[in-house]
Amino acid sequence: MKVQNVLLTGAGGKIGRAVLPELVKAGYSVRALEHTDGLQVERLNNVDVVVGDLRDASLAARLIEDMDVVIHLANVKENKALFLDANIKGTFYLIDACKESGHIKQYIQAGSDARAGIYYFPQPVPIDENHPHSAYPTYYALSKVLEEVMCEQFRIMYQVPITVLRFSWVHAEDDILTHLTLKGPDFGVPIWRNWAVSPEQKAYFENGQDAVACLIHPDGSAGKRQIVGIKDVVQSVMLSVGNRTAIGEAFNVSGPSPFSYDVLADYVAGKLGLPVVKFEVAEAHDFCIDMTKSRSVLGLDPEYDVFRIVDEALEFRRAGRKRSPCLYPG
Ligand SMILES: NC(=O)c1ccc[n+]([C@@H]2O[C@H](COP(=O)([O-])OP(=O)(O)OC[C@H]3O[C@@H](n4cnc5c(N)ncnc54)[C@H](O)[C@@H]3O)[C@@H](O)[C@H]2O)c1
Repeated sequence: MKVQNVLLTGAGGKIGRAVLPELVKAGYSVRALEHTDGLQVERLNNVDVVVGDLRDASLAARLIEDMDVVIHLANVKENKALFLDANIKGTFYLIDACKESGHIKQYIQAGSDARAGIYYFPQPVPIDENHPHSAYPTYYALSKVLEEVMCEQFRIMYQVPITVLRFSWVHAEDDILTHLTLKGPDFGVPIWRNWAVSPEQKAYFENGQDAVACLIHPDGSAGKRQIVGIKDVVQSVMLSVGNRTAIGEAFNVSGPSPFSYDVLADYVAGKLGLPVVKFEVAEAHDFCIDMTKSRSVLGLDPEYDVFRIVDEALEFRRAGRKRSPCLYPG
């Protein structure tokens, strides 16, 4: 498939700002959508930045003009007031414009493992691409299911050439350390302070003392989950663009393997010189993501296990880099 012009929505967001320079490096001409919410798009050569809001029904047709491929990353996260307009209508306008134009060779939708319920429901087997949609109880997860259903139906109704990349929880910069440590901003789930019940646990928050959290189940065993490093996410996007075999398919995009919170907490505590505090989180279920299809069909080779993600996060802090702005802490 010959691809020259690529539309990237959400180009100022966590994933978009990592994907954009790689598209440019690969030689694509990129039209990048910047929203007016403060997440600015880096100005690079060969990038035409368009400022707009996907809630505007007239924008999509203008955005896709002359484009070969659409990569749709723009999205609001947990936001009851906005998700229907920004995510559902926004996605509809874009896919419908692709269908109307007839010249889009591939539409790539950012999906999420949230559509499979991950840690909120028991997951007795690895989550593969055939796992039924089962949103966990948030408007965000509902949104990711509805977006995918829309993609599936547009493929069936009008043969829109859609690829869905279902990202696991994406880790960039020092996200993993922000998640695991008690001091500083809450990041992702669980929010440790909500699970502090003993006086010892509560004292850490009251005294502003830092420690590394370890998620455990009521039976005392450590929680297990699977996340993905930003570079593996970028790899999945780059392998998908212009890839005929990816059309009409959905792919899990996660790290090489699941991790266990006890092993991770010990590793991070050793690096940061902090104690480990256990938190019993009744709602958390273990899960892992089956990466067989992405490996075999896309050729995805996830390189960032959780230890490498931690090492990069430590390097990010050592270099004194500042965290990028984000609209949702997770
Ligand atoms: N970050 C994760 O852990 C993760 C995990 C799984 C899936 N995803 C999916 O990947 C995609 C990108 O996620 P992210 O983490 O980069 O998100 P982000 O919140 O960092 O960025 C979202 C982008 O969407 C833009 N946007 C929001 N509302 C808009 C509107 N009305 N019009 C135009 N642009 C708008 C924002 O300006 C921003 O550039 C989303 O679809 C998200 O659901 C993310």
